[in-house]
Amino acid sequence: MGDIKGGEKVSLNDANWRQLNLPHDWSIEGAFNKDNPASPEGGALPGGIGWYRKTFTISAASKSKLVYIDFDGVYQKSDVWINGHHLGFRPNGYISFRYELTPYLNFGGKNRIAVKVDNSVQPNSRWYSGSGIYRNVWLVTTNKIAIDHWGIYVTTPKVDKASALVHIETSIGTSGKPLKLKTSIYNQSGQLVKSEVSPVDASGDKTKVNQDIQIARPELWSVERPYLYKVVSQVLNGNSVTDTYTTPLGIRYFNFDVDKGFSLNGKPMKILGVCDHHDLGSLGAAVNTRALERQLQILKGMGVNGIRTSHNPPAPELLDLCDKMGFIVMDEAFDCWERGKAKYDYHLYFKEWHKRDLEDQLLRDRNHPSVFIWSIGNEIPQQSDTSALRVAPELAGIVHSLDKTRPITTANNDPGIRNKIIQSGALDLIGYNYSERDYPTFHDRYPGKKFIATETTSGLETRGHYDMPSDSVLRWPTARDWKTKAKMNDDFTVSAYDNVSPPWGSTHEETWKVMKKYDFLSGMFIWTGFDYLGEPTPYSWPARSSYFGIVDLAGFPKDVYYMYQSEWTNKTVLHIFPHWNWEPGKLIDVWAYYNHADEVELYLNGKSLGVKKKNGEDLHVMWRLKFEPGTLKAVSRKNGKVVLTKEIHTAGKPAKIELIADRKAIKADGRDLSFITVRILDKDGNVVPDADNLVNFKINGQGFIAGVDNGNETDHEPFKASYRKAFNGLALAIIQAKEKAGTVSFTATSDGLKGATIVLQAK
Ligand code: GAL
Repeated sequence: MGDIKGGEKVSLNDANWRQLNLPHDWSIEGAFNKDNPASPEGGALPGGIGWYRKTFTISAASKSKLVYIDFDGVYQKSDVWINGHHLGFRPNGYISFRYELTPYLNFGGKNRIAVKVDNSVQPNSRWYSGSGIYRNVWLVTTNKIAIDHWGIYVTTPKVDKASALVHIETSIGTSGKPLKLKTSIYNQSGQLVKSEVSPVDASGDKTKVNQDIQIARPELWSVERPYLYKVVSQVLNGNSVTDTYTTPLGIRYFNFDVDKGFSLNGKPMKILGVCDHHDLGSLGAAVNTRALERQLQILKGMGVNGIRTSHNPPAPELLDLCDKMGFIVMDEAFDCWERGKAKYDYHLYFKEWHKRDLEDQLLRDRNHPSVFIWSIGNEIPQQSDTSALRVAPELAGIVHSLDKTRPITTANNDPGIRNKIIQSGALDLIGYNYSERDYPTFHDRYPGKKFIATETTSGLETRGHYDMPSDSVLRWPTARDWKTKAKMNDDFTVSAYDNVSPPWGSTHEETWKVMKKYDFLSGMFIWTGFDYLGEPTPYSWPARSSYFGIVDLAGFPKDVYYMYQSEWTNKTVLHIFPHWNWEPGKLIDVWAYYNHADEVELYLNGKSLGVKKKNGEDLHVMWRLKFEPGTLKAVSRKNGKVVLTKEIHTAGKPAKIELIADRKAIKADGRDLSFITVRILDKDGNVVPDADNLVNFKINGQGFIAGVDNGNETDHEPFKASYRKAFNGLALAIIQAKEKAGTVSFTATSDGLKGATIVLQAK
């Protein structure tokens, strides 16, 4: 850490440097402090300058090869050297890039890569960015004759039930030799569907080969059934294969219709999406495929079918997962153009770098079947500025020069007709951030145009915290106290009834009620799926993470998760809240989200409190009752028959710990994770809803603790620790596999409580 003079020099003695594995985020290892230059807005964790060095050998036999290093993302302002030779500088912290190493390598000897990462000049972000080589890095060796980096472009210009036309454009570096290109398409079970061999015009240095392959009765990619083919491209030099390149292929067609909204494969549907930032809670920005997969699984469980990569290009692993799991992605490029939002953000680099960055994003991401929309910007300050009339068309032109198969949008916080980005005519979809009250009259403003809600809601909740009464909406913070983000609750909590939102947003129900009513509203991306580090609203410090998530930072759903589940999935839902531990006599609002039923009846200690039904647009029912300890029971019924029953009991004192692993068997690959939910229970097994016991962890065997959390937005304890206080009854420990197979034994203890042990297998 720190700015090391001559950090790139081969001769530098780095024997005492810390050894670590990539991906790596040094900020997440640091201590929260409001005076860190990132500010609470950026997560209040340290930034600074970091150096990474790696020594590797490369065989003499590789001399005839081309060698590259690929970075999926480095936050930010990276400089890279090989053997003391400077390869380049890249300011954008979210973009993937490659350098060629070949001319500077010692074949048959040692080589040193040095990377300087500079995240010292802050604020440069409105959310937690992380610092370091936080995404994967690949050493790539190819023959001299090879397919270019991101050199394949697969499209499906014609798709129907009977057949699909697959068009493949392949860019090859040829070195003047006569070659052939063999492109084969395999189905999801790995069987060859069809292949095509084409001669390659090898007269120049570079060539592009266009191929068309017809597939009969294609299996279509959808969010319910994300069927994936594989395109395998092989360059043949005589009889030998000199390069092989694999590209995912999802065959689908879609349309945004002015009146009917979005349809996929001819079937009308709404995009039910969420926005997410890239951090993975206590793991920070360091990318981990299992952590991403878990987030997506939790979101799928709520009925989410879309992801917006706010406000930057995502890790490639996220797009791979969205391809496989069936999500519709809005792939976003920028949070600002020439005018910035934070003093040192990307606006400083936009002029010089935007073309290169946007092109690289397109080239990297355009083969993903999950990508449906390109967003060229979020809440761009130039919306109000005539300069947008120049920049927006230029950016749209860059996108169209590389992909014409997907619409372009921007996320506009002023979606009114004065908006210069919209006026520029560059957009295929008019993107609304918030303003849900204006959705119904969209076509008065924009006749003949297509709608997408690029960002909605921004509901605010702390998991497991409830303020009474619940039946009025609080807009917070107000304009007056925005600067100080004044106090609402002394403990910096926000009520988890869906009734608090900032003035620019809405409750979850308010926006969803409008969205579900009109077909032309093709879909929405809720701010946000998960809580994220930074942007603590409505409070500022000591809060250091957001309250916007439908799911908290640790991955525990807040109650409103079940409102969406009742509306967006086929699962039968009956969810009642709050918990049942209150002062006797206090008036408590009990809410129920339900579906597949006509009514819900609530009972307290066996006594009926009446039957409630959702009327009209209602999305929940509510009872107001005086608290008395005991059992609250809800029964949903359809045609008089019981559909589901749910009970909540008044919990006694904390008595024991329960551990629940999301997966008991993990891969011994050094990366796989098991997420352990730690629950504080009373002697009868009820979660104690306000338990905040300090829990100590011990781990033995082939795993280590990668992070701990509890979802509390104001907790300043480190994420890399072997202890955590519970928050509202729950905590989380993330166990990461080592590279050796074996058992992992994980024990949780706490003063005065019966401890628990769980054993995992790393295979
Ligand atoms: C939006 C913005 C997001 C986030 C959100 C919080 O205006 O696009 O990045 O700041 O507000 O409500």
